[in-house]
Amino acid sequence: RSVAVLAGGLSHERDVSLRSGRRIAAVLRDTGIAVDEWDTDAALVGRLRDTRPDAVVVALHGGEGENGAVQSVLELLGVPFVGTGGRACRRAHDKPSAKAELARAGLDTPEWVALPHTTFRELGAGAVLDALVGTLGLPLMLKPDQGGSALGAQVVRDAADLPSAMVGALAYSETVLVERFVSGVEVAISVIDTGDGPEALPAVEVEPEGGVYDYTARYTAGLTRFHCPARVDPGTAERIAAAAVAAHRALDLRDLSRTDAIVDADGRVQVLEVNVSPGLTENSLLPLAIAAAGRDLGEVFGLLVDRAVR
Ligand code: DAL
Ligand code: MG
Repeated sequence: RSVAVLAGGLSHERDVSLRSGRRIAAVLRDTGIAVDEWDTDAALVGRLRDTRPDAVVVALHGGEGENGAVQSVLELLGVPFVGTGGRACRRAHDKPSAKAELARAGLDTPEWVALPHTTFRELGAGAVLDALVGTLGLPLMLKPDQGGSALGAQVVRDAADLPSAMVGALAYSETVLVERFVSGVEVAISVIDTGDGPEALPAVEVEPEGGVYDYTARYTAGLTRFHCPARVDPGTAERIAAAAVAAHRALDLRDLSRTDAIVDADGRVQVLEVNVSPGLTENSLLPLAIAAAGRDLGEVFGLLVDRAVR
């Protein structure tokens, strides 16, 4: 059996993806599978056509590797792959679309506004920023509408910081997702489905040393403390797991996902987003949850590859 792991790509999360790809290739090799690691560029289509691997593992993050473009190419060429299909990736990766779908499915997600950059020109920046604070209050959470690893994301506690945070998010995307900031216990729940239906792994609680789980806190060893299982009561743990499985189903995801959520002061599980291509680096949350569940990362991905090929 031959597997190609796709990593790299052109998104802002290229470096993270290279680390994810290296890790997943190594653990798959340990299970005896022949693995090729491909940097993902314009040669991808020709290479897939010529090489025809038995299956592909998409270890790309952000951009074309997560918005469904690469997945649609694989579907077009009939190459089996691990993970969610093109259409569902497109919706899940677009945070406002995903939140609307989650809300329709009855899940809690922080109140939001999606703001295209053209709105500033049409209505005037001052009026737009005032309206945001008037509608959602403070603090606010700003994020690029499509993106990952907290790049361009910022908490705004003071209205005076709103313009620069807006510019920071617009550097990554043409539309900004503005959410009411919810404080509480920050958790990530990985879901895997190796054939018996989606199953939530123990939630990982993240406790960044500096208080903010930003890019540096995510990928530098020692800057974030992880608690797995999360330090919540058993009833809350059950509701967290149920929310992650419901989110996975609502967005029509396949094989694996990671739902990021906050347990707010009232104990409600507020779903922030669902990642179709969760990080697989040494500091990432899905591998940690798999280990905490007493399972082996290579074994799990081996099963997902089997499932893709079948
Ligand atoms: N976007 C990064 C890779 C994650 O969600 O883990
Ligand atoms: Mg994300």
